[in-house]
Parts: sequence; structure tokens; C-alpha cells
Amino acid sequence: MENYAGTSAVPETAAVESEAAIPARLLPVAELHLHIEGTLQPELIFALAERNGITLPYSHIDELRQRYEFTDLQSFLDLYYANMAVLQTEEDFAAMTHAYLERAAASGVRHAEIMMDPQAHLSRGIPLETCVNGVASVLATSREDFGISTMLIAAFLRDLPEESALEVLDGLLAMDAPIGAIGLDSAEVGNPPAKFERLYARARGAGLRLTAHAGEEGPASYITEALDVLKVERIDHGIRCMDDPDLVERLVQERIPLTVCPLSNVRLRAVDTLADHPLPAMLAAGLNVSVNSDDPAYFGGYVDDNFTQLQAVFELSDFDRARLAANSIHSSFASEERKAELLEELNGGDATP
Ligand code: ADE
Ligand code: ZN
Repeated sequence: MENYAGTSAVPETAAVESEAAIPARLLPVAELHLHIEGTLQPELIFALAERNGITLPYSHIDELRQRYEFTDLQSFLDLYYANMAVLQTEEDFAAMTHAYLERAAASGVRHAEIMMDPQAHLSRGIPLETCVNGVASVLATSREDFGISTMLIAAFLRDLPEESALEVLDGLLAMDAPIGAIGLDSAEVGNPPAKFERLYARARGAGLRLTAHAGEEGPASYITEALDVLKVERIDHGIRCMDDPDLVERLVQERIPLTVCPLSNVRLRAVDTLADHPLPAMLAAGLNVSVNSDDPAYFGGYVDDNFTQLQAVFELSDFDRARLAANSIHSSFASEERKAELLEELNGGDATP
């Protein structure tokens, strides 16, 4: 396995220390690509359904689990949106968020930027306040309760019209929702980034940070469009950039973060097997990639599971793992002070064994 010491994926100001100095341990990481609704575990789905008097179309947990066989992104999205029916009250959103943070802390996550899909709740008659306040109530004390600093990202559904997204963004701004960024998710192919040019301009004007899914199932040109038209700072997924060498060169030059989700890509058949995943090639190309879980309850694992399985297939060195962790911290929207703290922890300070 190649050693990435010579690549530009980590700025010199906070370079990872020498390979020998990095012990094998659970690394402190930032999780940058996580849909909170994708953390709903089957057990919690059943518990919330019972609490809310909702009849699920599955008679027991195993029957639900049997549906976790996806053929593509849309086949997953159908189940993901259907299961959201159990989220009715602020307490439900809070319970889901609490469960994620507890599990994430055990994965080494020290900073999490968490996407939520408000439109998927509004369309079910759940007010913006219910979903935002439920999640935000837990994030407000995440640092004290779990050792995880957090940011809430409002993600917009790209298969809906831009007018809907604009209306929801205005609602979030009017209620002074504690969001730090916006994202763009849901069915990618046929819904190019340029469809949301006004949304991103408005969010940028409101001082929000910008990210968007691009190049998951959609073509490399969607990545270029997200950068040039939406002016995003980060790309979620981005694996299809490997189809376009000129784009790879640009992403390396501009140090654009790509929040890669290996187990998600396998489960949604963006790649055939983990062994076929482009992550090692992306690292070798000098791309600024991080490892994330996307929808961990549906894709067979949290961040630590992603690292463990990558390690098993690609024999990542400690140095590779530390570089991925450092990339995640540098690519976050955390304050410079928080980033410095996490980098210090990564470089041998304080990490949990
Ligand atoms: N929403 C939740 N997970 C997603 C993914 N992997 N791609 C697009 N939209 C999503
Ligand atoms: Zn995603």
C-alpha cells in the first residue's frame, strides 16, 4: 500500500506526524456526511411506531431487515422515506439524535455535521419546528454529553422543485433555526445541481456554509456544476470524479473535500464490491477524501465499521487511516480552534485507546 506522506491532502500547517508516531487506535474523526434519518435503527423504528400508534407494513424487525437489499439509490430512498413515518414528535427526533451520538462517540467521532431532510417531514404534516427543535435540543449539549461538537445541515430534496426548497430555507431562517450549512440530497440523476442556483445563492447570502451530493450515481459533470454554479465548498460522495482526470486534477489543486461513504456505495451498488471501491485510488491521486457513514442504520455500519472493513480489504496503514482522519477534521466547518484541538488529539495527544 502506498504511503501518502508526499501528497497534498493535508496542509503543511497541521501535517500528520511521522508514520511511526501514530499508534493503532480508534482515531478521532469528524463525520461530515451523515443523514440523521438514516440512523433510525429497526429497533427504534418499531419502538417509535408503538409509541405513536403507527402500524408498520412489517410484522417484525427481521421482516424489515429483509428489505435492506438495495439495487440502487432510489430503492433505498423509497424505504428511507417510508420509515420516517414513525417520527412524529420532538421527542422522537430527539431520541433518534441521541442514539446516533451515543453510537458515534463509540466510533471515535469527535465532531459531526448532521444533515436533516425537513421537506421529507413537512410533506407528512410534521411542522418545521418539530423536526428542527427535536434534533437541535440534543445537539445543543452534544459536546458535554458525548464529547462531540456538532453542526446541523439542512438538506434539500433535489427531486422536488427549487421553489419548495426556497420556501423551506426562508422558514428556517425566519425561525432562526440553528443550522450552519445547507446540503442537497435525494435522487441525483436527472436533478442536476444548477436546478438549485437560487437556493445556494440565498443560503450563501445568509452566511451558511455550502455542500451538495454530487457524483454518487450522477456523472462527474454534476461535481463541476456544484462547484461552479452552486459554489459549494465540499462535495458529498464525489466518487464519479474518477471518470474525469481533468476534474481530479482540479479537485486536488483546489483541495476540495470529498465526503466518501464506502459501505453506502457498496450497498447502493455504486460499486460492485468494497474491493472495487476507488478510495485507495482517490488517496493516491492526492484527493482530499474522508470516510463517512451516510445512512449507517441501512448500510451496515458506522464510521468505525467503514474503517474496519476498508482496513480488511485494502490493508490501510496507520498512516493512511490518520490521513483520512486528518482530512475529515480539516474539511469540517468547525472553528479553527476546534480543528486544532482535534488535530492535536489525532497527533498523539488524548485519543481514546
Ligand atoms: N439521502 C439519504 N441518503 C442519501 C444518499 N446516499 N444519497 C442521496 N440522498 C440521500
Ligand atoms: Zn448522503
